[in-house]
Amino acid sequence: MKLTQEEQKMLDGAYGEGVQLAMKVLVAVGEAYDAPYMVPVTRTHVALSNQEADLWFVEKLVRGGAHCKVSPTVNPGFNIELFEKLTGEMTAEDIEQMQRTRAAYQAIGATLTYSCTPYLQQNIPFFGEITAYSESSATPYVNSVYGARSNREAAQSALCAAVTGVTPYYGYLIKENRRGQALVEVKADMHDDFAYQMLGYVVPEKIGFQIPVFEGLSRPTPEALMNLGAELNTAGNVAIYHILGVTPEAQTYEDAFQGQKPTQVVTVTDDDLAEMQERLSDPKGKIDFALYGCPHFSIRQIHDVVQLVKGQKLAVPLYIMCSTATKDLAEKMGFLEILHAAGGELTDQTCMDQPCWRFLYGKKGVTDSPKCAYYTKRRQMQFVVTSLEKSVEAALKGEIA
Ligand code: F3S
Repeated sequence: MKLTQEEQKMLDGAYGEGVQLAMKVLVAVGEAYDAPYMVPVTRTHVALSNQEADLWFVEKLVRGGAHCKVSPTVNPGFNIELFEKLTGEMTAEDIEQMQRTRAAYQAIGATLTYSCTPYLQQNIPFFGEITAYSESSATPYVNSVYGARSNREAAQSALCAAVTGVTPYYGYLIKENRRGQALVEVKADMHDDFAYQMLGYVVPEKIGFQIPVFEGLSRPTPEALMNLGAELNTAGNVAIYHILGVTPEAQTYEDAFQGQKPTQVVTVTDDDLAEMQERLSDPKGKIDFALYGCPHFSIRQIHDVVQLVKGQKLAVPLYIMCSTATKDLAEKMGFLEILHAAGGELTDQTCMDQPCWRFLYGKKGVTDSPKCAYYTKRRQMQFVVTSLEKSVEAALKGEIA
C-alpha cells in the first residue's frame, strides 16, 4: 500500500507501540483487500463486546499509549450497578471484566455511549462521509439509510481506524461496490416494524450475501430499518441494501443497479414471513419474562410498550434495553414510572449477549427480535418470537397461545 509520510511514521512506531499496532492491523487489512492507500475517517463506532479477546486487544493498545484521534461511540456491555440491584447474582469475575472494559475504553478516549443504535442518536453521518462502523445493525444503517460509506468492520478494525484516523480504501467505500445486485420484490404486508425483522431474516436465504434492492417498501420507520439491517446481518452478511425510491442511492432503478441488470429477482410473500417466524420461535406456552431492545429501543418503541402496559400489572418481568440518553428521556416523559408500576424495567448500557442475564438462563421469554433469540441460544435461553403487541400481551398474561 502507498502510505503518506504520517501513516508511515505511525507504522514505524514514531507515535508509540499502540498506534503502531493499530496501523499494522489496518495495513494488513488493506493488503488483504488490495487497497491502494488509506483514506481519512471522520466517524467511527466500535462494537465492544466485553469479552476476553476484545478486552485483550483494547488493553494492549492502551498499554502501548494509543489514544483515539476520532473518538468512537461504543456498543453496550452491561450496567453493573443496575444488574447488581436487579439480580444480586453478578459474579466477581463478571463485574471485574466489565469494569476493565469500561476503564480501557475510557483510557483510549472512546465516547462511552454503550448503545448499539448510535446512528439514531449520537453518531449520525452525512451522505458520502467516510466512516468505520462495526455492529451488525449500524453498518447497514449508515451505508443504506444515510448513504455514508463504511465497510463491515470488526470491533478491532474500527478501533484501529479510530486510533489512527484512517482506514484502507476498499470495499463499500468505493461507489461501484455499492451497486445493488439482487432485486427483492416485497409482496408481503409490511404493516409493522416486526414484519421488517422477518424480511431481514428471510432475504439472505433467497439471495445469499448479495446486495439486495427492495421494491415495494414505502416509507418504513427508522425502527423498521434498524430491524431490517440487524436481521440481514444475523441471518447473513449484508453491509448495505437499497430501497427503491426511499434510500438515497436508489432513488431510481438505474441508480440502484448503477445501470446494470439484477443478477437475480426474488419475491417475498406473507407465507415466507410466517414460515420464518415459525422456524425461529421455540414452542408457545407459559413464559418467564419478556426482553426487548436488540437492537436498543428508541423512545417511540418504549412509548408503544408503555401504552400497552399502562395501569396494568405484568405477569412476568419485562426488560427493555436502550441507551442511557433514551432512558433519561423516558424518565422525563413519565414512561419509566409507568413501566416500573407495571413491573417492567429499562436496562440501559446493556446487551442481551452478556452474563448479566444469567438469572434467565434455562427460562423461556418472548421478544420481537430474532437476533435476540439467535444469540441467546448459547446462553440456554428460549424465545417465542412475535410482534411487539402480541409479546407484551403475553407478558401481561404470563403465557402465549
Ligand atoms: Fe445490541 Fe447486543 Fe442486540 S449489541 S443488537 S443488544 S446483540
